[in-house]
Amino acid sequence: MQQRILTVIGARPQFIKASVVSRAIQKTEGIEEIMLHTGQHFDANMSDIFFNQLGIPKPDVQLDINGGSHGEMTGRMLAEIEQALLEHKPDRVLVYGDTNSTLAGALAAAKLHIPVAHVEAGLRSFNMQMPEEINRILTDQVSDMLFCPTATAVDNLHKEGFKAKPVQVLQVGDVMQDAALLFAERAAAPVGAELPEQFILATLHRAENTDDPKRLSSIVTALNHIHKTLAPVVLPLHPRTRKLIAQHGLDLNVNLIDPVGYFEMVWLLDRAQLVLTDSGGVQKEAFFFRKACVIMRDQTEWRELIDIGANELVGADKTRIVEAAARHFGRKVVDSEQLYGGGQASQRIVSKLVSTGA
Ligand code: UD1
Ligand code: UDP
Repeated sequence: MQQRILTVIGARPQFIKASVVSRAIQKTEGIEEIMLHTGQHFDANMSDIFFNQLGIPKPDVQLDINGGSHGEMTGRMLAEIEQALLEHKPDRVLVYGDTNSTLAGALAAAKLHIPVAHVEAGLRSFNMQMPEEINRILTDQVSDMLFCPTATAVDNLHKEGFKAKPVQVLQVGDVMQDAALLFAERAAAPVGAELPEQFILATLHRAENTDDPKRLSSIVTALNHIHKTLAPVVLPLHPRTRKLIAQHGLDLNVNLIDPVGYFEMVWLLDRAQLVLTDSGGVQKEAFFFRKACVIMRDQTEWRELIDIGANELVGADKTRIVEAAARHFGRKVVDSEQLYGGGQASQRIVSKLVSTGA
């Protein structure tokens, strides 16, 4: 019997994650996918570009829910996703990561007694101030297939008592490694941006940094200093950060470019001498491209990269960021332990979905 999966995505990293799973679904008998885009990210360079570059099927259901408070956004998504589920009657809902789109999709399904599979289950920062931590904990609670990217994630779920539950906790590897491996050869220089030969790649968008004027100002000062004294900093600026930097009247004097597509991002990751970020995905991608990464956060869900000395957590303190950047500049790292599954995660996920059945 054909199993019908309804995938809920809405934010940039989810397009990249879903692209590789969607490919695996298309190659596999006995399973079909309905794609629902919540509209959480909507600029062409935050959404359409990924569908075009990565060959993601055009959404069957396109919602237009973005902005507003967390409760409002999640609530509106919940109501509209519920309608789509009633109409399309999937056997299972598939959600990714930890955004408001993830939680709304999982909750809408669970309330209709539709089983939920969660890709990137079990990640924890242990910081309940983060909207993402609330989203991922609640999503895990209503999922019955928990696809964990790492051993750390499995361990987190075991500590929370998931072993005793009638659910499947499976370590499958990281779909972002699948994407990095698959698309590395499509690397393309960002068009129209004059980039220096040697540079540091930075990204900045995490709410705990952008929404706290002190942290934001400290990070901006650090990036400006590094750009002037160590190496040019290239920063594809997230729309959230663009708005808040303007709102707080801060001067970010680095090589700012608009958000880029995935092929351009892979190009930047491959050529950078160092990565400076507060992104969840980018701190691992640095590793996939053998670059050291300085993480401008106080916690990370990807602990194993700290434990093996590949990445360093420095928070938002100007001096710590500047010193760590100098220390790690040009340093290469290697994955000697196959921490993220080696590119097989999507196929493992789809095989498990098919073998579990509708
Ligand atoms: C969201 C996720 C975060 C993830 C990030 C990936 C939640 C709670 N947060 O954060 O976990 O790391 O996506 O990038 O779900 N905006 C635009 N154009 C766009 C997208 C956003 O202008 O295409 C604006 C929004 O209107 C809003 C701000 O950027 O003002 C933030 O967008 P939002 O989706 O609320 O959260 P992100 O910071 O993107
Ligand atoms: N990314 C991209 N273009 C950019 C910035 C990031 O394609 O201009 C990709 C990045 O390579 C990674 C994903 O977007 O695959 C990470 O998304 P983001 O940092 O927005 O979210 P997070 O991973 O922190 O949730």
